[in-house]
Amino acid sequence: MKNSSKNPTVKYRKDYRPSQYLIKHTDLKFQLFDSHTLVNSELKIEKNPLDKSDVLEPLVLDGLELELQQVSVDGNELSKDEYEATDNHLTINNVSEKFTLNLQVKIYPQKNKSLEGLYTSGGKFCTQCEAEGFRKITYYLDRPEIMSEFKVRIEGDKAAYPLLLSNGNPLTRGDMSDGRHFVEWHDPFPKPSYLFALVAGDLDCLTDSFTTMSGREVKLELYVDKGKLDQCRFAMDSLIESMRWDEEKFGREYDLDLYMIVAVSDFNMGAMENKGLNVFNTKYVLANKKTATDADFEGVERVIAHEYFHNWTGNRVTCRDWFQLSLKEGLTVFRDQKFSEDMQSKAVQRIDQVKIIRSSQFAEDSGPMAHSIRPDSYIEMNNFYTVTVYNKGAEVIRMMHTLLGEQGFRAGMDLYFERHDGQAVTCEDFICAMEDANQKDWALFRNWYRQAGTPEVKVQLESLGNGKFELQFAQSCPATPGQETKKPFMIPVKIGFINAQGDVAKFRLSDSDDVCGETLFVMTEENQTLTIHSDNEVLIPSLLRDFSAPVKLKFEYDQSQLATLFASDPNSFNRWDAGQSLMTKILLNNEDEISEPDLEILKNSFAQLLGDEQLDNSLKALAVILPEISSLIGRSEKINVDRLFNKHRQLKKHIGQSLEHTWFSIYNTTSGDQPSDRKLRNVALDYMMVANDEQHFELAATQQTRADNMTDELSALQTIANSTEGYKSDYINQFYQKWKDEELVMDKWFSAQVINDDESIIEHVNALLNHEKFSIENPNKVRAVITAFISGNLPQFHNATGAGYELLADTIIRLNAINPQIAAGLSKQFNQWKKLDGKRQALIKEQLERIKAVDNLSNDVYEVVEKSLN
Ligand code: ARG
Ligand code: ZN
Repeated sequence: MKNSSKNPTVKYRKDYRPSQYLIKHTDLKFQLFDSHTLVNSELKIEKNPLDKSDVLEPLVLDGLELELQQVSVDGNELSKDEYEATDNHLTINNVSEKFTLNLQVKIYPQKNKSLEGLYTSGGKFCTQCEAEGFRKITYYLDRPEIMSEFKVRIEGDKAAYPLLLSNGNPLTRGDMSDGRHFVEWHDPFPKPSYLFALVAGDLDCLTDSFTTMSGREVKLELYVDKGKLDQCRFAMDSLIESMRWDEEKFGREYDLDLYMIVAVSDFNMGAMENKGLNVFNTKYVLANKKTATDADFEGVERVIAHEYFHNWTGNRVTCRDWFQLSLKEGLTVFRDQKFSEDMQSKAVQRIDQVKIIRSSQFAEDSGPMAHSIRPDSYIEMNNFYTVTVYNKGAEVIRMMHTLLGEQGFRAGMDLYFERHDGQAVTCEDFICAMEDANQKDWALFRNWYRQAGTPEVKVQLESLGNGKFELQFAQSCPATPGQETKKPFMIPVKIGFINAQGDVAKFRLSDSDDVCGETLFVMTEENQTLTIHSDNEVLIPSLLRDFSAPVKLKFEYDQSQLATLFASDPNSFNRWDAGQSLMTKILLNNEDEISEPDLEILKNSFAQLLGDEQLDNSLKALAVILPEISSLIGRSEKINVDRLFNKHRQLKKHIGQSLEHTWFSIYNTTSGDQPSDRKLRNVALDYMMVANDEQHFELAATQQTRADNMTDELSALQTIANSTEGYKSDYINQFYQKWKDEELVMDKWFSAQVINDDESIIEHVNALLNHEKFSIENPNKVRAVITAFISGNLPQFHNATGAGYELLADTIIRLNAINPQIAAGLSKQFNQWKKLDGKRQALIKEQLERIKAVDNLSNDVYEVVEKSLN
């Protein structure tokens, strides 16, 4: 079938119907062979007691790319006319209210490059079933509210696969003939198919244990490729910290006697929370000081915690259907953020979280794929594991936390677990638990779940004299696909003030006698006013402190007000944000170049901040990093990118040059060994190189050669690769020779080379795609080269020749046939195209149409490209 007639089915949230059948028990037997795997299943099926209809409909199971070998019902093999197997389903027409179904299917894991279902990676078998991958293993009711008790028997060659793992607890093991052996597993907790996991291979293992708050001992096992044990300790410690944290903060204890994590190189996402057997991308497990940067360590800690926290928010209480994905993901991201805030610096964490929202989520919200955190429809569910569902979802949970306070939020969580442990539920159930535990009515708050788009809050401050001030608020939200008009949102706005001298300005709300330094104003209507009283003549408002809501806040600050906030806002987050606003204002105004006075203001502000002895080094580093180009595009409706790129270059160069001595002295006097010290020192090095790369080259080169940690070694390499000498430098090769056998370090080596502002970079990216260490089948490698280039080097991705667009389209087309999930993810990178100038729009449209015309276009890519073209 030619794809022009492509008409994939759209699934709608409003069409949800409970399943007429349940699967109470699932017994699986896997026979692993070199060329294929046989999967036998025995399913105990019965009619859903909640289904009141008298008619028993045919049983329709999901299945994809399966070779059906045998079907029997209650022990009787069915003949070909008693069932029907199509590309997507197995239908059995005459079934009773309770029966046993036995199936055998044949699958080809060694040929499975989609990395979904059962596949092989580096000689081992592993699985990825979320969202709808279990149907590539056997026919099943592959939907999350079908919760079943699983028993699994795995058989395989003992020498090649000494380890045979699945969920729960091992029951028995034994040898078979022909050098084969088996292990049987039982998971006592009923679970949806998406949490099933199997791993078989020959791996090294780091073990430890954790004693839970009720005194039970849990065995912890971390499995990695042979020879990698020296990169495991940090992940294990992070797991132990997470287990302790969830007990302390939420009273949640681990439930099985065994917790296993397996790291694999080929993985589409970060990691997966399969019950008792997490499967991880190596990127989020392997780390020691030599091979991993400080940012990598943070990533490991965060993702280990995230998957562990899913055991309660995701596994014990799961989703009724995939439209509810944010129920577990938004909540679990919020929990991992809170954990990281407790483990690291709170303000720095918050800044990093908000950067993701502004650079990716705002863009998604203003593009063709905009969806609410609880989407209304999808073609391919995998396309909805998005920054909106995850990160905006976490912001929505955070607003609840802000509105209820720590204790109220905890009470809501307790009630949620009390009501729904062991169930598959909806976002609505979560909101109800929060409301009921706190006697709230949150009818309006629900609009965050229904409506897509980023609300805009315009604020004006008016002095009425006699110490009386009025803050006027107006909210609006732009139209998004399928949602022309929006209802108001409930928006908590955290507010403080400073005066003209930069001191905290205390104030009093007009309905209260208490003098305070900060207040939480909760918007519920389109237009609202807050009246306050203060002894100060001039007030500079510090608004939306800590980013108290995922909105775009607009206040007409002048440059000097922003400079004052940047110098003295007591709220660290807003202090950083004032600097970002100052730069954003200058970068996005209508001038073709940045004026001398503007450059002067920025230089002086930076110099003052860098000299602030009270301020933490990582906050200093963050404050002097320019706003990301992606977030500048993300916040704009139309954008002149040529002008933006030029001004961004101009500003970076100016900050480098005008403060060259300051950078030099910071570089030489910041001596600490903390991540924050390294961060500041490396930002200084980067600015020095931008100022004059010839003069400071030796410094960078020496740092790369002498570094005893990957943070410094890589920062040096990056700044060298970024310089005029760039990817042609000898130091690229030196790094390669040193690290060519460390896969994850090679990813960094690839990424470092694609960030260079020279036109010839696209040729070089193409050369990297043919490098022997590159593999299009490995998602980490694709991300290291292609994603790093198109999201980290926007000036060259948007090169006016269109060569960057062509490169991306070529890669998407290649990947469409191998790994549709990754191909679709890349296709989203075109989503901002309608903001660009006519010439670039035409170039991108051409590429989108080329992709759309490809034979056998996957549903994944189709959904993204089609929406983008519409
Ligand atoms: N639940 C996993 C996590 O958040 C992600 C799984 C994503 N899978 C997918 N096919 N998109 O940790
Ligand atoms: Zn998750």
